[in-house]
Parts: sequence; structure tokens; C-alpha cells
Amino acid sequence: MTLDRWAWLSLFWLALGLMAVLTMAEILGRAKSSPSAGKKRVHRVVGYGFTGLYLVFLAGMFGRMNRFGPPRGLWIGLHAYLGVVVCALLLVKILIARRYRKYMSALPSIGVFLFILALTIVTLSGLWRLRARANSATVSVTYRGRSYQGSAALGRRVMYLKCSRCHDLRPVLLFARDAQDWQRYLRRMQDKDPYLLTDEDCMNAIAYLSQGLSP
Ligand code: HEC
Repeated sequence: MTLDRWAWLSLFWLALGLMAVLTMAEILGRAKSSPSAGKKRVHRVVGYGFTGLYLVFLAGMFGRMNRFGPPRGLWIGLHAYLGVVVCALLLVKILIARRYRKYMSALPSIGVFLFILALTIVTLSGLWRLRARANSATVSVTYRGRSYQGSAALGRRVMYLKCSRCHDLRPVLLFARDAQDWQRYLRRMQDKDPYLLTDEDCMNAIAYLSQGLSP
């Protein structure tokens, strides 16, 4: 699997977040040892790195929203919402550290929470990308004795445009089935209306359905 620029940046962002949490624990969490200036400096640099990279992500997100409109779908919507929550928390953290110092004791919990949020955000977009990649995959399929490179993207269209002519998609999406099961089902469906469902349709549909994806 290849990772693109954004994926590498996300992993780097998580690493910075983890380092911020660890240096904070080193400074405040150890029973003995007085906090060294070095650790504090590392914590500050890593924290600014995390914030800077976050601003890059935020700019990218608003750029995409400008071009494509608001995020569609639950996962990516949640991803965007959590991304904005990070902004609020970072602001609170900076305000406490710089001005409202009586709340200092809240900073470590906010820091840990920020890291958990970052992990959730990156995981959500990672899963979303994996699914998008699987949705456009090419899969080897055998159907009625022929083998074929089925296209999951075309199969998805078949499902929405053709399977739904006769029934809703509940029986199709409710249960995960493997490629062999789908071969049997699709032979049966094709026999009901061979003019509607061609062999290619069925093979592409198998490529899509056998990956067990939600729509
Ligand atoms: C020509 C009409 C028709 C088309 C097109 C059609 N189906 Fe069906 N499908 C049926 C009927 C009728 C049933 C219920 C009777 C049966 O199971 O054979 C059914 C049932 C099913 C079931 C439930 C079977 C079970 O035993 O639980 C699945 C799964 C299914 N179809 C998948 C698909 C898929 C995937 C497609 C598209 C590639 C598709 N169908 C296209 C008519 C159709």
C-alpha cells in the first residue's frame, strides 16, 4: 500500500502529538527529577509543530470545502467536526498557558485529550480512504466459468442502477458474503432477467460486493 503526502503528514502529526504528551509526562509526571529546561523546550517546539501542521490541515480542509462544498457522509462529516474541535482546544490551551495561568492544572488533561482527538481524526480519514480505494479496486472474479478483472466501481453502479430495479438493497447489503456465495446469488438474479443483467454486470457486482463494503 502506498501512502500519499497527506497520509505521511498525518502520521508525522500524530508523532508530534505523542511526543508532546510524553514530554509533558516527563516534565510533570515523574515523582523525582526536577523538570529540565531542555524537556520544556522540546515540549514547546513539538507543541508549536503540532499546531502549525494542524493549521496546514485546516487550510487544506477549507480549500476542499470551497471547491467541493461541505463534507458529505457521516464519517467525513465527523472527521471535519472533530477537526474544528481541535481548533477550540488549542485556543483554550494557548490562552491558559499565556494568560489564565490559574487554570494551568487543566493543561495536561487537555493535552491528552487533544492527542486522542488527533488519533481519532487520522483513523477516521484513514478508514475512509481505505474504503474509497477498495471501492475503486480491480478484483479477479470467476463467473460462469469465465475469469475476468471485475471493477468494484462499476459493480457499485450495477448495484444502484440494476439490482434496485427489482428490490431494495437490504438483502444485498445486510449480510457480508464471499465471492463464491455472490456467484451463486448472481446467477440466480441474472436468470430472472438476463437482458437487464449482463455477464459483465454480474462480474463487476461480484468484485464490489465480495469486499463486504457498506455503500
Ligand atoms: C429481475 C429482478 C431482479 C434483479 C435485477 C435482481 N434481483 Fe435480487 N432478487 C429478486 C427476487 C425476485 C428475489 C427473491 C427471490 C429469490 O431469492 O430468488 C431476490 C432476492 C435477492 C437476494 C436475497 C436472496 C436470499 O436468499 O436471501 C439477494 C442477496 C439479491 N436478490 C441480490 C441481488 C443483487 C446483488 C442484484 C444485482 C446484481 C439483484 N439481486 C438483482 C429479483 C431480482
